[in-house]
Amino acid sequence: MGTPEPTAPSEPAASTAAPQSSRAAASYDVLVVGGGVIGLVTAWRAAQRGLRTAVADPDPGGGAARVAAGMLAAVTESQYGEQTLLDLNLASARRYPDFVAELTEATGLDVGFRACGTLTVALDADDRAHLRDLHAFQTSLGLPSEWLSGRDCRRLEPLLAPGVRGGLRVDGDHQVDPRRLATALLRAAELAGVVLHRSAVARVEISGGRAVGALLDDGTAVTAGRTVLAAGSDSGRIAGVPEAALPPVRPVKGQILRLRIPPGHAPFLSRTVRAVVRGSHVYLVPRENGELVLGATSEELGWDTTVTAGGVYELLRDAHELVPGITELPLTETLAGLRPGSPDNAPLLGRGALDGLLVATGHHRNGVLLTPITGDIMAEALVTGELPAYARPFAASRFAAVPVPVFPVPAPPAAAAREEQTV
Ligand code: GLY
Repeated sequence: MGTPEPTAPSEPAASTAAPQSSRAAASYDVLVVGGGVIGLVTAWRAAQRGLRTAVADPDPGGGAARVAAGMLAAVTESQYGEQTLLDLNLASARRYPDFVAELTEATGLDVGFRACGTLTVALDADDRAHLRDLHAFQTSLGLPSEWLSGRDCRRLEPLLAPGVRGGLRVDGDHQVDPRRLATALLRAAELAGVVLHRSAVARVEISGGRAVGALLDDGTAVTAGRTVLAAGSDSGRIAGVPEAALPPVRPVKGQILRLRIPPGHAPFLSRTVRAVVRGSHVYLVPRENGELVLGATSEELGWDTTVTAGGVYELLRDAHELVPGITELPLTETLAGLRPGSPDNAPLLGRGALDGLLVATGHHRNGVLLTPITGDIMAEALVTGELPAYARPFAASRFAAVPVPVFPVPAPPAAAAREEQTV
């Protein structure tokens, strides 16, 4: 990262509603392309730092977070070889309680943060051995996780299947409701003065070798001192950005189900419960409002967001092995979304390969978890031109030479390979 970048000329921001023919103009210090949780937290924090900020998105508050379960599973999802990312995940998890309190104070909205902890169990000897290895890895890093016998797992969660062979209890891995989080961030951003352009970006505008804003589908020409690509996996294919400056992100499909625990039903699960079932992974996230989220597939199928019979079948089959009682519950929603995958599974943050253009994407499985810290990092980058020291391993520029993947890619023979890389 170099010196701070100049801000845009100080013209007043224009109206957001502009018919295609009127060619309305608007000018800001910062234009954020994408109004998911990452774009909104970036805009909110930038506005709090005094930057005149706008967000362009036809459906702000949408995006991958509308599909996500909202696990804040920094320890549970820790991976061999990803210790640097683990540090960022842990730092963001630590910020969550204050972040949520600030957001609720600013908006009056509850975001469903639940300090419930997580239990990951194994149903056969192979999965148990795998979890044992993970526990040893977590212990070697000083992470707080506790090994439990199958009996102790069932004492904690009596609805677990009798065959549970052991598990890992992580009391510090909590959850938030990503839909409520997105709604609250949208409100907070508006209250902080962020202007919402409810339109897609037709193209990022380049002038004199730097990004200078964007032309929107509704005809509005937005000029901005800095343009931030925060459009999830779409960030890798935004028109107008030279190919070499596009972040190398790809869509990673996740199918997820929502069930409902009827009012008056006996207590179901008291914490997030996950499992390794025949090498695949499944999680159940119980909300205080009775929603039970069951996820998720992880599929490299390009931009496809079809909910498939195979994906739903495998999720229900494996969740049923884990908690047989789930088949009694009403199934209220099936949905697929696209995680923004990056070459090293870590986010791309800050300045990329084009002056005036910053990036906040590539959060892959950790977008909701990394929301608080991403807002802080991006605000710092926008105000000072520098990433904070702890965020430099995640500089977008680390992939300056990596080509953007081309989709669609061929479908794998299996219907839905789930979360091969975790736990
Ligand atoms: N972090 C959970 C998922 O991506 O499915």
